[in-house]
Amino acid sequence: ITILLVSCQEDVYPTDNEQLSHEEQIVIRFSHVVGENTPKGMAAVKFAELIKERSNGHVEIQVFPNGVLYKDGEEMNALLRGDIQMIAPAISKITTLVPEWSVMDLPYAFKNADEVHTYVNSDVGQSLMTKLNAHNLFSMGVWDSGFKQLSNSIRPIETVQDLNGLRMRIMPSDVLSEQFSIVGAYPKRIDFNTVFHQLQRGNVDGQENTLTNITSKNLHSLQDYLTISNHGYLGYLLLMNHEFWNSLPEDVQILLIETLKEVQEWEWQLAENLTAERLEEMEACDCINIYNLSDEEKEEWESAFEPVYRYYAENYGKKYIQALPKNQS
Ligand code: LMR
Repeated sequence: ITILLVSCQEDVYPTDNEQLSHEEQIVIRFSHVVGENTPKGMAAVKFAELIKERSNGHVEIQVFPNGVLYKDGEEMNALLRGDIQMIAPAISKITTLVPEWSVMDLPYAFKNADEVHTYVNSDVGQSLMTKLNAHNLFSMGVWDSGFKQLSNSIRPIETVQDLNGLRMRIMPSDVLSEQFSIVGAYPKRIDFNTVFHQLQRGNVDGQENTLTNITSKNLHSLQDYLTISNHGYLGYLLLMNHEFWNSLPEDVQILLIETLKEVQEWEWQLAENLTAERLEEMEACDCINIYNLSDEEKEEWESAFEPVYRYYAENYGKKYIQALPKNQS
């Protein structure tokens, strides 16, 4: 009988407010729900590589993609419990904790990602960031996925009226729910990792997502119609819990923040490039019927969604809406 003795170095986690000593390796488990071929998936790997290299292996970021460790709806609690140290959930998913963040879900709130980045850096954006503190969350930055498009298996969507009666998958956000309800569709909150299955079973007719997310999960193979509507932004907050963040030595905090700044710029460009590539591929594949909304149609859609803004203002106040780029003169 051969007995294999495996010695494994235990991951080092801080206890209470004890600072991690410089001799111990710091392991940061970074869990997310999308594929590795998406902007978030690729940026997470790049971030891990750079940190390993720049810390000479002292800080190790272990990336767990595709919800293999924790799924949607689980990763936030796992972060707060300290079972993982970093997540990058879609902002729509943070709205269950801080509903004011759903300003980012408002249809046609932003024309492009630059507008989003400016908004997040503005005073109101920073006051949204501050609201995370009460939930023990520390935000280290914003990554883009891009703008959402609509797909379904029932009919081409050219006007908002075409959405009437469709069962549409959404992320957990009241504003996204309103967005579909007010046009007569039926929003259904479904975890990202089961969207393919639910579409396949016919439990929903369609969904909204960015092209990189749609293609990475092959959702388009189950859908007949795609509308390039660019109606809403999908992006992420890079989150740690405050205790873990505060337990890190200052030089490690600086390394993480500086590296993330660089990776963030890289990720924004990547999201833009990958989205353009995916669109070209979908146009060429002849596998789905694509409808492009014209600028004029987008304006009509934007007015049709006006009640969603009223819903937001009534529930969460006007301040965050007034500061949107389209409301600045
Ligand atoms: C979704 O649930 O559709 C997205 O939040 C997935 C992601 O993380 O991009």
